[in-house]
Amino acid sequence: MHSITALPDLSGRRVVVPGGTGAVGEGVVRSYLAAGADVLVPTRTRERAEEFRRVLGDAATDRLHLLVHDYTTFVGAQQLAEEMERRLGGVDDVVAPIGGWWAGKQLWEIDESDWQSAFVGLAAAHVAVLRAFLPRLNADGAFTLIVGESALTPVTGSSLVSMEQAALLMMRQVLQAEVAGRQRVFALVLGPVRTRLTGSGDQDRVSADQVGAVAVAASAAAAVGGREIRLRSRAEADQALALLQSGQPVGTGTVVAVSTMEARNGRREDLVEVLTELATQIRAEPGCLHYSVHRARGDADGPLLVVQAFASIEAFRQHSASIAAQIPRIAALLATPPVPPTLFEPVPQSAPTEGVVEHWFVA
Ligand SMILES: NC(=O)c1ccc[n+]([C@@H]2O[C@H](COP(=O)([O-])OP(=O)(O)OC[C@H]3O[C@@H](n4cnc5c(N)ncnc54)[C@H](OP(=O)(O)O)[C@@H]3O)[C@@H](O)[C@H]2O)c1
Repeated sequence: MHSITALPDLSGRRVVVPGGTGAVGEGVVRSYLAAGADVLVPTRTRERAEEFRRVLGDAATDRLHLLVHDYTTFVGAQQLAEEMERRLGGVDDVVAPIGGWWAGKQLWEIDESDWQSAFVGLAAAHVAVLRAFLPRLNADGAFTLIVGESALTPVTGSSLVSMEQAALLMMRQVLQAEVAGRQRVFALVLGPVRTRLTGSGDQDRVSADQVGAVAVAASAAAAVGGREIRLRSRAEADQALALLQSGQPVGTGTVVAVSTMEARNGRREDLVEVLTELATQIRAEPGCLHYSVHRARGDADGPLLVVQAFASIEAFRQHSASIAAQIPRIAALLATPPVPPTLFEPVPQSAPTEGVVEHWFVA
């Protein structure tokens, strides 16, 4: 099941992976070990440490440093950072796949212990790790949060996970603004992942090893600034990997496609319905970063603005091909024949402009 290939050489790098014993963490740990790094994996229990060593098998080389230690409190994370400095002389990268799934109640049914464990406890663990490690991080290194796409899309019955993960995405944005280019802070936003627990299953899903390979590539690509990277499918993971490995900042090839649509008399609601219906299909396309439909403020009957963003011109072309069959449906509702969208690309250079592009990743 493990297919780690073509990783950059991270020999000598010191990486800590809190949450590394988990289903996603395993892929992260394997990838950094395969890239030659020293990997410190703290775990809260001895049983978990022993089980994880068994899971890794031959991959558990002497560069794996498994430490039984509670890293989820402010004090615990601080002690861990100090211990890592003592053992390995410093820290270059942090990857944090902390926490798992929670489900089963509507938001108004939760009790205080749900709130404390699924929101407060997990968010506190992330903040504890961040405040202990970020100030010690090597400038070339990366701090990478791992979250799920439930941060972006409400999942009924799993509100606390959605809310906590959304808070982490905002934490990344705040951090990236506060470090002002001195450190690189990434968030990998995952769809359902193929892990040791799910088996090889649906091949279109991103695998834990691919998540690890993207984290390794982000560590290695020192010229690429911190950002949010969506890995909702295997195709998106391949694309992110290719961009990171090419050294080209993710997002510089982003294409923003903008269309204005005026409905025929009396057909505006039908047009809105078709554009809304297409949202799920378009957002699921590989390389689609954003799709939204807007109306002019205060003009409920006026033209509609459709804004889409794609990771590359190739992704936009694939989108155009896959949406072609729907164009006659849309054309039948328009006052004038449809025209192709206007395409925008990032203005080259300058970090502030990249920030504008990055907005599309997080909108
Ligand atoms: N699995 C998926 O399909 C999937 C999909 C999308 C997103 N994600 C995201 O990926 C991250 C990791 O998910 P995962 O599936 O690998 O989870 P997991 O298998 O449950 O592992 C999470 C690890 O986090 C550590 N942890 C620390 N505090 C915890 C707490 N309060 N509750 C539970 N675990 C805690 C545990 O390590 P120790 O006990 O060893 O300390 C555990 O091994 C999460 O942010 C999750 O939302 C996962």
